Amino acid sequence: MNVLIFDNQEEASKKALDIFKDAIDKGAKTFGLATGSTPEKLYELMIESDIDFSDSTSINLDEYYGLADDHPQSYHYFMEKHLFSKKPFKETFIPDGLNEDAEAETKRFDEIIANHPIDLQLLGVGPNGHIGFNEPGTDFLIKTHLADLTDDTIKANSRFFDSIDQVPTKAYSMGIGSIMDSKEILFIAFGENKAAAVKGMLEGPVTEELPASVLQKHPNVTLIIDQAAASQLEKDY
Ligand code: GLP
Repeated sequence: MNVLIFDNQEEASKKALDIFKDAIDKGAKTFGLATGSTPEKLYELMIESDIDFSDSTSINLDEYYGLADDHPQSYHYFMEKHLFSKKPFKETFIPDGLNEDAEAETKRFDEIIANHPIDLQLLGVGPNGHIGFNEPGTDFLIKTHLADLTDDTIKANSRFFDSIDQVPTKAYSMGIGSIMDSKEILFIAFGENKAAAVKGMLEGPVTEELPASVLQKHPNVTLIIDQAAASQLEKDY
């Protein structure tokens, strides 16, 4: 893995933008996108930049089960607010959180991914090492699924909701298998609360207990982290 450590999130996000631009220059058309506070700066820089996604497709990693597109905490709403409304794509795909038929929804989403192979996948990480909503213990070969969120994740994500009771307990997530099929992966993590996950994924064993560690097996991953997220690393990068 190519590990890049930056003093602050602004510099790190600028580098992440360059990686998107390089991918487009090399012909990338389909981008896997992520939500959360980590990519917010990158999306801001994308909007300010001349990057052109009007011929590109986006596929988001995940969506809360039970939240409508216009719910302020849904990932549809997040993407519309932070990117799509200001930087249009040719087409955008996100799992449908209101589809109660999990078999149909996961099949529909897997077909979308199969028809649009992902050129560059953007990933954040949960403090427990989850990617998308692939929680610890998830099979590395899994495709899109309806995931049960762990108590840790519900607690970590409750900061966006009025109370913890309002955080959905399930979410549709792209599977680790599909994430690993992406041609290139750009992983971003900021802050001390990600340091243990970053240490484990880079310097620990590849284990389902730390889903992000699977990235050690991908041939084309760039890790962009800040000093705080790098604070537990023992090797030099
Ligand atoms: C959620 C998302 C993940 C994201 C993680 C970290 O759980 N499903 O895709 O990486 O949060 O979020 P943040 O960037 O806000 O720390």
